[in-house]
Amino acid sequence: MRVLVTGGAGYIGSHTVLQLLQEGHEVSIADNFSNSSPESVRRVTSLAERSVVLRNVDLLNQADLNAMFQDIQPEAVIHFAGLKAVGESVAQPLKYYRNNVTGTLNLLESMESVGCRTLVFSSSATVYGESTALPLVESTPRSATNPYGRTKLHIEEMLEELAASDGRWSIANLRYFNPVGAHESGLIGEDPQGIPNNLMPYVAQVAIGRREKVGVFGGDYPTADGTGVRDYIHVIDLAAGHLAALDYLQESKGAHTWNLGTGAGSSVLEVIDAFARVSGQPVAYEIVDRRPGDVAENYANAEKARLDLGWKAERGLEQMVEDMWRWQKMNPTGFDEIPASEMTDEELAEFLGS
Ligand code: WQD
Repeated sequence: MRVLVTGGAGYIGSHTVLQLLQEGHEVSIADNFSNSSPESVRRVTSLAERSVVLRNVDLLNQADLNAMFQDIQPEAVIHFAGLKAVGESVAQPLKYYRNNVTGTLNLLESMESVGCRTLVFSSSATVYGESTALPLVESTPRSATNPYGRTKLHIEEMLEELAASDGRWSIANLRYFNPVGAHESGLIGEDPQGIPNNLMPYVAQVAIGRREKVGVFGGDYPTADGTGVRDYIHVIDLAAGHLAALDYLQESKGAHTWNLGTGAGSSVLEVIDAFARVSGQPVAYEIVDRRPGDVAENYANAEKARLDLGWKAERGLEQMVEDMWRWQKMNPTGFDEIPASEMTDEELAEFLGS
């Protein structure tokens, strides 16, 4: 199928594009490179030994978006593009509403314009808010505890109402838990800009010596060792979940929601211990104050995806850490800086061919 991937140069996007190419799909990518590098796409095309169309397109530029849709005529869209830093969203809510919600609205209208009504959406377990009913199932009531989470919640509701208004739409809302890890080649992986918000990339940067120690946000939670528990899922398993959802949508109309998690939780200290063990590097840490807005623990009930999609996460914490460590060792400072947002589509195509 002709699949258009928004944010396909990003962490989860690039791993999903690789699997789409390996499955024989024709892939085009719309990315504004605000938090990604075309280098990830170049490496993906090298790994897959197949080419992609890569366009420097911002979802807020409806004209560029429409032009791409007219040109590519995609049969399905996987939508990753979005801002996702919780703290930043609290400081700049309007930036998050405009980029995530208006961007998605523009995307849906561009899809309509070419009769493309199959969408896989990158949602998040953050829509469960501070629910304490664990494990989290898809029917758990939604709520938001920050503007980022509220954008995901609003988009899920938009998509449900769109599907209810027009039975021709096939939509998958995929609620990610905590994506971590990297492709086994070590060529692509998570490349956070600045100080990592998330635990695993921060631990990796301590292990590689880029940072002094991990600040453990709270040691007095009601969990086994007092530190936060999360459902970490390998990015390869996560990407496979997208292909399984895309297959399901070929046969099913309407809006559907699935958790993509392992169903198991790991604590901060367990992650740090695993990293020290796998990397052979000491990982210094210090227990500090809780981070506002954090919950003690959350992890998925992943049964629905197993039953509907025949999908379940296969990789455990050890492999997540092994693959993350290989990526970090091979790319101590992530992808090299490329001024991609100034590059024309022709320059991007030439770069991919290089
Ligand atoms: C994991 C655990 C922290 C950093 C967030 C978003 C969610 C999704 C995934 C986008 C928690 C602890 C962390 C650190 C720490 N993002 N921690 N020291 O908060 O579960 O989820 O990222 O979709 O929407 O909310 O992930 O990696 O930030 O935190 O102790 O330096 O690690 O308290 O217990 P989180 P995280």
